[in-house]
Amino acid sequence: MTDRYAASRRLHERAIHSIAAGVNSGIRKMEQPVPLYFQKGSGPRVWDVDGNEYIDFQIGQGALLYGHAPAGMADAIAAQARLGTHWAAQCELEIDVAERIQAMVPGAENVRFNNSATEVVLSALRLARAHTGRPLILKFEGAYHGWADEGLVGFAPPADRWGDDESPTRLHPSRGVIPEVLDTFVVARWNDPDHLRRKVAEFRGRIAAIIFEPIMCNTCCMEPVPGMIATIRELCDSEGMLMIADETITGFRTAPGGAQESLGFVPDLTILGKAVGGGLPFAALAGRRSAMQKIIEGSVVHAGTLNGNPLCLAASKWCLDHIASLGDQHPRVATALGHQMMTGLRTLADQHGIPLRPQGPGPAFHAVLLKPGASEGPVHDYRDYVRRHDATRWTHLRRCLLDHGVRAIERGLWFISLAHREEDIREALEKCAAAFAVHARDWKPA
Ligand SMILES: Cc1ncc(COP(=O)(O)O)c(C=O)c1O
Repeated sequence: MTDRYAASRRLHERAIHSIAAGVNSGIRKMEQPVPLYFQKGSGPRVWDVDGNEYIDFQIGQGALLYGHAPAGMADAIAAQARLGTHWAAQCELEIDVAERIQAMVPGAENVRFNNSATEVVLSALRLARAHTGRPLILKFEGAYHGWADEGLVGFAPPADRWGDDESPTRLHPSRGVIPEVLDTFVVARWNDPDHLRRKVAEFRGRIAAIIFEPIMCNTCCMEPVPGMIATIRELCDSEGMLMIADETITGFRTAPGGAQESLGFVPDLTILGKAVGGGLPFAALAGRRSAMQKIIEGSVVHAGTLNGNPLCLAASKWCLDHIASLGDQHPRVATALGHQMMTGLRTLADQHGIPLRPQGPGPAFHAVLLKPGASEGPVHDYRDYVRRHDATRWTHLRRCLLDHGVRAIERGLWFISLAHREEDIREALEKCAAAFAVHARDWKPA
């Protein structure tokens, strides 16, 4: 039998001699049967070095909201590259981008740029501690806020170590973390407003900020239950904490103004990443002027050689103009296509006896695969997810999808880009039908 991934395998074997573990981000090691190597992308499609074509729902881990290699963006970057690739100084483009973000994102009275959302999270937490003079940050169990020490506290703890329902663990998945960092966090369960109130009361006067993904995209695309966001806002107001919305994924995706527009709230600080740069290393901290004050006056350090890099700015300006040009088509089209995909997947899965339950707002969704005997209904928090989602089975199904030319994220997340069309969704579902048949035939529970 020919190996569909032979060229990727060869490159990976070569890479492990020079690149640690052969990949430049730990998560890429998860890809089965081998981390794939790509040679080109166009719109919603991508081709690997073996010449396999995929309809792409991984879409640069969500950064490629506009699809692969949009011509307008490529031209904008090339034009800028001919003028200069880096100044480490000011240029008009950065004001152009800042003004566009200001116009689109409700909580963006001021912005500052960085190169990754991980950096922006660190800036936001530092700023919150300085703003309030308090040491602690409250975050939600299972939430991912970048790979730094502070972004991963309480991310993905194993069930035997996650603590009781009232006291989720601050366990960190990485070794080498500064131990004291864990002591600066309070971890609460997502989607339980009463529990959140109790946690805030327990640490009253010591919490600087609540950081949250308005839709917990990284863990099962869990939308907030009614009252959840309002409770966070109310507690932040009444207890003098900053509300930090991590919109790295939801930003520009669930609406031009992100989840704060689609769900209707205004945070004090906002983390923007991924789609704001359309695949270039670009991210932004946005916030109310009052919350940004310590950066404005310079008592909180915010710096970076490559901040506001002109190539990233040229790409970002094109991205934001593209969204604006879509008017009320966005998020309407991506949401409709997302629902079409979710419904199509569910129908096909039912036909094959596969317990697949897609959930999420549409432009992003998660493919939950229920464990045997698991109850129905939306997965609502991290513990519920671990208890009901069959991650091993998903890995098998994802591999079947990949073999049939459909690429979803290793963890089960799917993105619809603005380049996907109805015919792409129809074709993807045809490929999924064949993949589901193979999965149903070959899947053997442990
Ligand atoms: C919600 C959230 N916050 C922060 C980050 C970190 O972003 P970056 O990988 O750009 O550092 C991510 C990345 O996936 C994310 O999903």
